[in-house]
Amino acid sequence: MITRRGFLRLIGGSFLSAVSLSAYAVGLEPMLLTHIKRYSLTPPNWPAGLRLHVVALADIHACRPWMTPERIRSLAERANALQPDLIVLLGDYAAGTRLVTDWVDASEWAPALSGLKAPLGVWSILGNHDWWEDLSAQKAGLGPTVARRALESAGIPVLENDVVRLEKDGHGFWVAGLADQLALRPGKAWGRSRFKGLDDLRGTLAKVSDKAPVILLAHEPDIFPKVPSRVSLTLSGHTHGGQVRLLGYSPVVPSRFGNRFAYGHVVEENRNLIVSGGLGFSILPVRFGMRPEILSIELGSA
Ligand SMILES: [Fe+2]
Repeated sequence: MITRRGFLRLIGGSFLSAVSLSAYAVGLEPMLLTHIKRYSLTPPNWPAGLRLHVVALADIHACRPWMTPERIRSLAERANALQPDLIVLLGDYAAGTRLVTDWVDASEWAPALSGLKAPLGVWSILGNHDWWEDLSAQKAGLGPTVARRALESAGIPVLENDVVRLEKDGHGFWVAGLADQLALRPGKAWGRSRFKGLDDLRGTLAKVSDKAPVILLAHEPDIFPKVPSRVSLTLSGHTHGGQVRLLGYSPVVPSRFGNRFAYGHVVEENRNLIVSGGLGFSILPVRFGMRPEILSIELGSA
């Protein structure tokens, strides 16, 4: 079976033989073609009269030259310009590729995100790379991670198996954030033979204390089959839409479910999931057919 790394290497190698294609996939599409991906939906049992505009940023993967603090600041300005009710950050702020000219530490990317502003706040979760880059957290098997502390210092609360109740126009709703499902890597030094998730879906949803709708933030979409219909909408990132996507198909997706949750709006048994294609990248700085995107989601309008 071809691995994600093997596949992306292969794609990267092929592109080198086609200069114009590689310039597009390595330079133009990932760097210059960021777009706003819009969705409008009214999930089942959504309260009549609650119109909510949520903007989501996923998989920023800060590093030079691909995702500099300046670029993050300008993405934050684009997000603010959409004038959402709230902004959510879906994890993976840390670099995901080693092909960089320099690292961008949390002490740089978090302040770049501090310019995000919305009336009902900016709420975040962490991704696997935020955990993997933090060797002390890997060793201890618990947080708080460097990323969490940096986000909090930038005034952005982090929801790890936690919830917050918000209100708009007299209607309550919940934002629930799941801790990362791949947080702890296997390693002899850490005494782990496999990945260990820190996610607690049941415990998180147990904190929801009334009937108001729930929006769940979960970095990896693989949790979706377990998400109860009590949750109106699950928002995920992590897959980057495969980074290479042709005719609605991504050859390699970092998900147990392959293309099932690779990208976009998925409805299963009346439950809604939106997977963002994200902004940065992992392994290779390549995007093809999967432009970096900011999600703009209108709930209760369709
Ligand atoms: Fe991720």
